[in-house]
Amino acid sequence: MGPLPGFRDFYPEDCARRNHLIGTWREVCRRYGFIEFDGPILESTEIYQRKSGPEIVGQLFNFTDKSHREVSLRPEMTPTLARMVAAREREFRKPLKWFSIGQFFRYEKQQRGRLREFYQLNCDIVGEPAAGAEAEIISLMIDLMRAFGMTSSDFFVRISSRMAWAGFLQTKNISAERSAQFLAIVDKLERETEDVTEKKLGEFGITLGEVRDFVHDPQSSPALSQLQRELEQRGLVDFVRIDLSVVRGLPYYTGAVFEIFSREVSLRAVAGGGRYDNLVRDFSDGAVDLPAVGFGMGDVVLGELIDETPAAADQRKKHVNREQALQIYAVIAKEERRNDALAQIARLRAEGFRVDYPLTHAKVGRQFQTAEQLGAQIAVLYGDEWPDVKVKDLTSRKEELVPNSDLPARLKDQIT
Ligand code: HAM
Repeated sequence: MGPLPGFRDFYPEDCARRNHLIGTWREVCRRYGFIEFDGPILESTEIYQRKSGPEIVGQLFNFTDKSHREVSLRPEMTPTLARMVAAREREFRKPLKWFSIGQFFRYEKQQRGRLREFYQLNCDIVGEPAAGAEAEIISLMIDLMRAFGMTSSDFFVRISSRMAWAGFLQTKNISAERSAQFLAIVDKLERETEDVTEKKLGEFGITLGEVRDFVHDPQSSPALSQLQRELEQRGLVDFVRIDLSVVRGLPYYTGAVFEIFSREVSLRAVAGGGRYDNLVRDFSDGAVDLPAVGFGMGDVVLGELIDETPAAADQRKKHVNREQALQIYAVIAKEERRNDALAQIARLRAEGFRVDYPLTHAKVGRQFQTAEQLGAQIAVLYGDEWPDVKVKDLTSRKEELVPNSDLPARLKDQIT
């Protein structure tokens, strides 16, 4: 019996790959001065109904708990972050630079790049209205991708602006209340047939041609020029492209929005985010007014892109091997030496070496085979030579006799 549809089992290899993603995410975020936080996996359904929009609300993994509360497994981090910041904002120096790594749940139809459970990194800057915050966030997104061994020929960031679209809607006399509905149509432009799009736009009295003209007009996005300059100064022009066809599905964005895509392979977005200046205010019923900008990067599409990018796949493989490999395998050649070996294994482990050994009697040849299979660098043989032990380097095949009391010092020199 397998797991539920859209859920994954993580066998050791999958876990090592996941650790590679999470470890790299954490390391790069710290380079940027972000600090880690987390929230509960279960939240009241209301916090998503209020702000996440119909798409996510339709995908909630929700139920009524035993005290008749309406609850949901978290589909995203941003409402929780806004709630947490609104509650204790005074305790923190602004701007806040916070990141979080966790598991999220959306009841989506399972397809390539979309599961019902996924891991997501969230990075957000709260309390800074200037475009420098967007530049810092986009720069972090790019460096995260580079840390996985990807270059500007593998991925790029598409940047757009909700402000630009608000201006467009104003010229067409469309009210702000209907804008979310309109943007949802633009969001699906690339995934929907022209006929369907044309029909939906017709309800707003707008044609597909008008939308396309706006998207391709360089004058449409003056709001992004400061951000563009900042990214240029950081040497990131090769990684970014202004593209107004990106609008993002979530309704809380108020300014710049951006998404990371693969250049070569047709995949869903690897990451997405934007500026959301009203969410903290809404979560505090107007008491705390803090602008914010951030993004989420999921493990599923990123994993697929790494699979398709040889340099990145190679780097991940090395990481996985390093994570799983053993340093020392103790070969117990004579059962009489088992207790001496066990005492020494305990000391070596206490010193931090990764050590394994046969739990029951096994032939010497078989033990060496196991040592190789487990990726051990060194085999230490406990046999007739005791109180000396034989130390064999499994890569160079060199071996020498060492008094067992000298073993820890010797291994420290030899193990890389
Ligand atoms: P989002 O675009 O809904 O944004 O998700 C961000 C990323 O999470 C996506 O690009 C994708 O990699 C991953 N993701 C989302 N849903 C799934 C799924 N069902 N299966 C696999 N991966 C998925 C947000 O969640 C915003 N809250 C991000 C944000 C943070 N905005 C500001 N701060």
